[in-house]
Amino acid sequence: MVLSALFLAFLSTPIGGASTRSTVQPFKVDLARGVPHLQTLVKNTNLPTEPLYPDAGPDFGLDLATLREWQTQWVNGYDWATQEAELNEFAQFTTTIGDQTVHFIHEESQDKDAVPLLLLHGWPGTIAEFLPIIKPLTQSWTDPTTRKNISFNVVVPSIPGFLFSSSPPQNWTNVEIAGLLNTLMTDVLEYSKYALHGTDWGGVVAYDMYESFNTSVRAASFTLIPFLPPSPQDIADNNITLNALENPNDIGLALSDNPVGQLAWIGTGLVRWSDPRAGTGPSTINSTTILNIVSLCYLSGTFQSSVWQYTRNPKGWRTDYVKPATDAPMWYSAFEYNIFLLAAGVCGEEHDFGGHFAGIDNPPALIEDLREMGIYFAANE
Ligand SMILES: *[C@@H]1O[C@H](CO)[C@@H](O)[C@H](O)[C@H]1NC(C)=O
Ligand SMILES: *[C@@H]1O[C@H](CO)[C@@H](O)[C@H](O)[C@H]1NC(C)=O
Ligand SMILES: *[C@@H]1O[C@H](CO)[C@@H](O)[C@H](O)[C@H]1NC(C)=O
Ligand SMILES: *[C@@H]1O[C@H](CO)[C@@H](O)[C@H](O)[C@H]1NC(C)=O
Ligand SMILES: *[C@@H]1O[C@H](CO)[C@@H](O)[C@H](O)[C@H]1NC(C)=O
Repeated sequence: MVLSALFLAFLSTPIGGASTRSTVQPFKVDLARGVPHLQTLVKNTNLPTEPLYPDAGPDFGLDLATLREWQTQWVNGYDWATQEAELNEFAQFTTTIGDQTVHFIHEESQDKDAVPLLLLHGWPGTIAEFLPIIKPLTQSWTDPTTRKNISFNVVVPSIPGFLFSSSPPQNWTNVEIAGLLNTLMTDVLEYSKYALHGTDWGGVVAYDMYESFNTSVRAASFTLIPFLPPSPQDIADNNITLNALENPNDIGLALSDNPVGQLAWIGTGLVRWSDPRAGTGPSTINSTTILNIVSLCYLSGTFQSSVWQYTRNPKGWRTDYVKPATDAPMWYSAFEYNIFLLAAGVCGEEHDFGGHFAGIDNPPALIEDLREMGIYFAANE
């Protein structure tokens, strides 16, 4: 493995400095060796048998009964090998850009005119929050109005700090991450123009890319527009105390070898921010999905690095809307149960099913909206 990587690196060494093209190496998820330790920890975690405050509602976090149920399933009804095999059905790669390793899924369409599409995940979703939409997007779909075929070449990177991408340097903000991912698309994969979609933390990065790389990002779609009250002044004026996510080292270290702790922390977000009808209708979110995301996070050892970026970006979520210097259009998809529905004045599609994790909360609706963007891109770029 190491030898072949070195060999590839040697082969790709630019001769006479003529080429700076990065090497791309195939990648397979291979985390089974961590499973016995994970199983031991999960099995040996003693949770209380009764809730301390039975009447405390969801505002106080995950309820004990749910956590205990998930713990039991993790030990007795969950097979990591199956999940790993499902992930490895996607074509995955790593590349090195500067000092950073970037892991990404790259699923190409059979169609030669497919639209390049970059999908940027959030926390705690990881690449797993897009799995149901990737393959359908690569397939040819005929627009009933124009009779034109639309399909995509889909690129889904692990944002730096998540899973198999390296953790960004301590001083990086969304601006440097935006630059890195644009380099992935334009230099490494040689898509000079592309469309992008971002959600949650990935929406912050996507917005930055939309604004900063206006010749390559030619259409952008969001399920969340990253403009958020309150401002730092509002926080000070209203005596708002920042929650534990703002102290990523504390929570990151406290839960680093505590899978049930990570399950509570990540699981509460996945449950509270998605449609309460999760697991029914178009939603693919059930306890297995949640255990998949937490297992990936725990086994790859990236819980701490994945929460780090929130504090690195005090200005990531801007409060004053400034129109970006781009003539590329923007799409906005509103999902009924999403958090931060703060997109006043932006036109878009409204969906009455789904929440914060649209790619697993309501995959068909997100696919439909992305195809609408694809129709525009194919006609104009
Ligand atoms: C368009 O896609 C359909 C499948 O949806 C396929 O049968 C047809 O051949 C495609 N047309 C063109 C012009 O590629
Ligand atoms: C981060 O720190 C490194 C090393 O001190 C420095 O070279 C780099 O310019 C810094 N980057 C940013 C974005 O501040
Ligand atoms: C914030 O705290 C200060 C000092 O305790 C107090 O005077 C002020 O009324 C508080 N403001 C709000 C909005 O609660
Ligand atoms: C969750 O859904 C998947 C299919 O989408 C299924 O394979 C799995 O068994 C479900 N898990 C539970 C606990 O029902
Ligand atoms: C890109 O942004 C620059 C300013 O940052 C602006 O001058 C230029 O017109 C923009 N180009 C497009 C295609 O929007």
